[in-house]
Amino acid sequence: MKINNFSAGPSKIPQTVLDQLGKDIIGYKDLGYSVLELSHRSQEFDEILQDTKKNLVNILNIPKNFDVIFLQGGATFQNTFIAANKPSLFDNIIFLLTGTWGKKTYEDFQKYSDKKISKISLSDQKLEDLIEEVNIHKSEYLYLASNETIEGIQLKNFNNFNKKLIIDMSSDICSYKFDWDNISFIYAGAQKNLGIPGVTICILENDFIEENNLTSYLNAKNHINKNSAFNTPPTFSIYVMLNILNWININGGIEQIEENNISKANKIYRLIDENLEKLIPLAPKDLRSTSNIVFDFKDKSKTEQFLKQSSENGFLGLNGHRSIGGVRISNYNSISQEMVSNLLEFIQKFLSSY
Ligand SMILES: Cc1ncc(COP(=O)(O)O)c(C=O)c1O
Repeated sequence: MKINNFSAGPSKIPQTVLDQLGKDIIGYKDLGYSVLELSHRSQEFDEILQDTKKNLVNILNIPKNFDVIFLQGGATFQNTFIAANKPSLFDNIIFLLTGTWGKKTYEDFQKYSDKKISKISLSDQKLEDLIEEVNIHKSEYLYLASNETIEGIQLKNFNNFNKKLIIDMSSDICSYKFDWDNISFIYAGAQKNLGIPGVTICILENDFIEENNLTSYLNAKNHINKNSAFNTPPTFSIYVMLNILNWININGGIEQIEENNISKANKIYRLIDENLEKLIPLAPKDLRSTSNIVFDFKDKSKTEQFLKQSSENGFLGLNGHRSIGGVRISNYNSISQEMVSNLLEFIQKFLSSY
């Protein structure tokens, strides 16, 4: 049976990348040993690190006044890392909360401060009102998650905001182009669009962090000064990322990736919108994500039946997050048009069966 993996993360890795990694695990270049065994102080690993950074800078068009570092601890560690390295943020930031991950970050930040940190939540306001409310707030910085993986809500128009942005881009990094005019800090776990868990990408303005006396791993300066090799970095996760970045380049670059993602997402949303007598879209229309598409069946007994039948037919990872249920189609860069066509055909058949 053909497997179509639509998991929200860790997620599908392109087959050509898996093939290359398989070879490199057996023996890297002509060294006679595995890429898994490379010393993080070796010339070979240094080349991997520099190449990965260079590719990321090129693909995302990262300006010169930004540092790029690779850390461990997942996106979740950034809640602590950012708060610890820039304590002046607490009374100079507003959080725009559009879903679960933003809320978790806000809660962690709040643990670091006695003062109440400002926040605004997407509830029943319209997007324009929300943007206006953020923009009249006195703070210099705005936190947001560009893509809320669980709720399927995406904010891509960063220029709408008149603040310096700190963005959790874990579930949509490298899936579209954006300009850096008002960006201050971007971070993302790699395990959706950039490979496997273990490495978190941090891209920060080089005057972002403040003087501090933090312990070694927590201190951003150590990672910047030692070029992401302050301690042992997650060597294999970084190597996988390099291969994924090469895959993006070979496949037409970020422009082509973005076009594919939009085209795949439009097909999925069209099917949902054409079947509103049976399906309920779960994200507000003007904030629909191209990365994670969430819906449920009006007849709730069908949800479980659909998920069971889909996994029996090789369509994996379609269950919505346990906190909201329903169905989630993760449409990351590695998902091909063919996979989406196969899935839509399957959903259409299921819908016609009742
Ligand atoms: C948008 C977003 N932020 C943060 C996280 C947490 O990431 P991690 O598990 O790497 O800490 C996730 C996980 O899925 C996510 O989707």
